Amino acid sequence: VFQAEIGEVEGIPFTKPMCSTWEQVWKFKARPEDLLIATYAKAGTTWTQEIVDMIQQNGDVEKCRRATTYRRHPFLEWSFQDSSAESYSGLELAEAMPSPRTIKTHLPVQLVPPSFWEQNCKIIYVARNAKDNLVSYYHFHRMNKGMPDPGTWEEFMEKFMTGKVLWGSWYDHVKGWWKAKDKHRILYLFYEDMKENPKQEIQKILKFLEKDVNQEVLNKILHNTSFEIMKENPMTNYTKEFQGIMDHSISPFMRKGVVGDWKNYFTVAQNKKFDEDYKKKMADTSLVFRTEL
Ligand code: A3P
Repeated sequence: VFQAEIGEVEGIPFTKPMCSTWEQVWKFKARPEDLLIATYAKAGTTWTQEIVDMIQQNGDVEKCRRATTYRRHPFLEWSFQDSSAESYSGLELAEAMPSPRTIKTHLPVQLVPPSFWEQNCKIIYVARNAKDNLVSYYHFHRMNKGMPDPGTWEEFMEKFMTGKVLWGSWYDHVKGWWKAKDKHRILYLFYEDMKENPKQEIQKILKFLEKDVNQEVLNKILHNTSFEIMKENPMTNYTKEFQGIMDHSISPFMRKGVVGDWKNYFTVAQNKKFDEDYKKKMADTSLVFRTEL
């Protein structure tokens, strides 16, 4: 059975295969026309990727179904190889891909390969409120053997609060990218806004990408990037790949797709503790999140 061993890069927990390819990732050669979709894991990456691809394909659903999310948008720093699971190298996929490329990453801002800044690439960052992000991450650890064992809910919450999880601290991640947006071409979006008003957020993405679509195409994008459709779409729901490491019977990748599910997991005491800690960790930022709609 595939078991994720954990190492570290610059103090950020990474899987061992990610650590071993880190030097190449750091030297990655971004191209000026690359688009980077950056998120903390489970913040709505796949959703954003589908919206972007629907825009790039001008609403052509069949073109978007040409390959899985994973193959369309290489996952820059992610790699693994195991006899029982498929092998994957986001780096190799990205290097082999013709321009214009859309690349996915969960890297904290300080670990983004320098070439992305040098080439002034456009970046879309999506952030999700800590509580829902944590719940989603917990279930993802349960269903994905490529991730370390989460332990109990209580234990995982502790790891999340101390940043001892893959890709490091959620708090540092969202704050770091928030700061970076003032200096670089970064569109900073929120999962909660996308849920509340997907049309408005898609229009923000359109403007950022300097694209225009007619009403009919916009409606197609809205429809095909809804949770219900993406959950049934084998090209986005992760059922076609990684069958050796993802077990959707434990928890599907397309799990619930809502804002506020954390209320089903946090006890009153846990919520109090989390809020107190959150206040301290987020005291030095103007970032504000909504935990319900
Ligand atoms: P839940 O586990 O809360 O359901 P990522 O793609 O970054 O791994 O994020 C996965 C999370 O985004 C999951 O959250 C998943 O259900 C949710 N998601 C995926 N597609 C979505 C969509 N079209 N609308 C809303 N949520 C979506």
